[in-house]
Amino acid sequence: MRKQVIIGNWKMFKTNSEAKKFMKLAEKGFKTKPDLIAGVAVSATLLDTVKTNSKKLVVSAQNVHFEQSGAYTGEISIPMLKDININYSLVGHSERREYFNDTDEVINKKVKALLAANMTPVLCCGESLETFEKGKTIEFVKAQLVADFAGVSKEDAVKVIVAYEPIWAIGTGKVATPEIAQNVCKGVRDIIADLYDQATADQVVIQYGGSVKPDNVKQILSQPDIDGALVGGASLEVDSFLALLV
Ligand code: PGA
Repeated sequence: MRKQVIIGNWKMFKTNSEAKKFMKLAEKGFKTKPDLIAGVAVSATLLDTVKTNSKKLVVSAQNVHFEQSGAYTGEISIPMLKDININYSLVGHSERREYFNDTDEVINKKVKALLAANMTPVLCCGESLETFEKGKTIEFVKAQLVADFAGVSKEDAVKVIVAYEPIWAIGTGKVATPEIAQNVCKGVRDIIADLYDQATADQVVIQYGGSVKPDNVKQILSQPDIDGALVGGASLEVDSFLALLV
């Protein structure tokens, strides 16, 4: 049985004092459920504070470098994350792909480096509005996933969380209908089944992301191939974040 995984993506928001305040209230208000993993993906400067103030919620980085160390000004490494007990990182968010040149080749290296360190990659994929309107979503996502999973063993593939996030639904208030989201998440599972086998695909947690809010989260999560959500805007306020987890 797959777990449900709901992660708030804070993007480039919050100072340490704001994050601390959030975590106090969120930890107090979060009612754990046996099959639910919930947490937040935060900026590098917040990781230690948020981790120190978390007991029930998991903490994820938003990005990581694939090299263990080196002359890569501005980057953070896997050993740096492990040193503060961070075990998750987003990889290949569309904003990283678009603004910071995260290519599928780089994303694949990051996925493999995280898995080798026994960490969980939350691998983001998803198409532009233009691709969606041309009806080429599955084809596009398939090309991303084939490249992003290249060289990942079957045993490791089940540890990856895949987040399907249509770019046209991110931060736009335009949520994909549950039917569209389900259809593509099922498509993602089929792609993984093609790459590995059905048993492997059936174990992979697949999230939907893009304008998920407390008032639409239930409908989205009730779809058979959607196992969780990656949530930007609606994860920034404690009340709204907690309302996603009920
Ligand atoms: P949004 O962002 O929920 O604000 O649309 C989702 C994301 O970028 O992960």
